[in-house]
Amino acid sequence: MAINNIVILTGAGISAESGVATFRGPDGLWEGHRVEDVATPEAFARDPIMVQRFYDERRAALGTVQPNAAHKAFGRLDREWSGELLLVTQNVDDLHERGGVDPAHGGRLLHMHGALKRVWCLACDARSDWEGPLLAQPPCPACGASALRPDIVWFGEMPYHMDRIEAALAAADLFVSIGTSGAVYPAAGFVQMARAFGARTLELNLDVSEGSHLFHESRRGPAGELVPEWVEEVLGG
Ligand code: APR
Repeated sequence: MAINNIVILTGAGISAESGVATFRGPDGLWEGHRVEDVATPEAFARDPIMVQRFYDERRAALGTVQPNAAHKAFGRLDREWSGELLLVTQNVDDLHERGGVDPAHGGRLLHMHGALKRVWCLACDARSDWEGPLLAQPPCPACGASALRPDIVWFGEMPYHMDRIEAALAAADLFVSIGTSGAVYPAAGFVQMARAFGARTLELNLDVSEGSHLFHESRRGPAGELVPEWVEEVLGG
């Protein structure tokens, strides 16, 4: 069957080779924290200083990491693929953009869990691009209030762009999942949705994931090797 319409889902595993920590490592901690201590609205209400400091560190750390071969392969796919393409990432880093996926290119890149380099003003509701720290309570670029939080989707909050993602999954003829443990919904359910609508499904992951058995095909290995190989296959074939 000819492939015209691809939906890709990426998770923390695609950035692991760049040196960004995954969430569910062997110690069960994320950069030394339990996820529920930093990535929930309750944690932010309880201890905003700790949460702001944690995300300030994550944002600053983006300056020390570089896109790897997998991100760059997607940059190539974005430039050379003439069919439909949607790249949905659960990652809050900016390595897909820096790997060459143009966020403005027909809106092909969606950050469903938000982005470290974005802020959300709890006073005026505006979302803005952001580079620096938030700990010192800087003013919102839109309204001037000191009520900015990271524009990250925390546990218990609604992921972004779901309407667009579901429409794309319904139209996809190939769904590819890369570097995600399949532990967090709704992203973990995309494979079943894509299959139900008739897409072929492929997983590229280092380890067996919680959802590996749901895919038509599952390849094991580091994203830095598997993704460039797969992109070559798609563009070459
Ligand atoms: N190449 C490919 N896969 C890898 C690599 C690699 N180099 N390194 C690790 N992996 C795989 C792991 O085997 C694991 O299955 O990536 C997966 C990472 O899983 P998680 O740490 O659970 O990350 P993710 O699935 O993105 O987490 C989902 O949970 O807390 C949240 O909101 C956060 O978006 C995140 C969501």
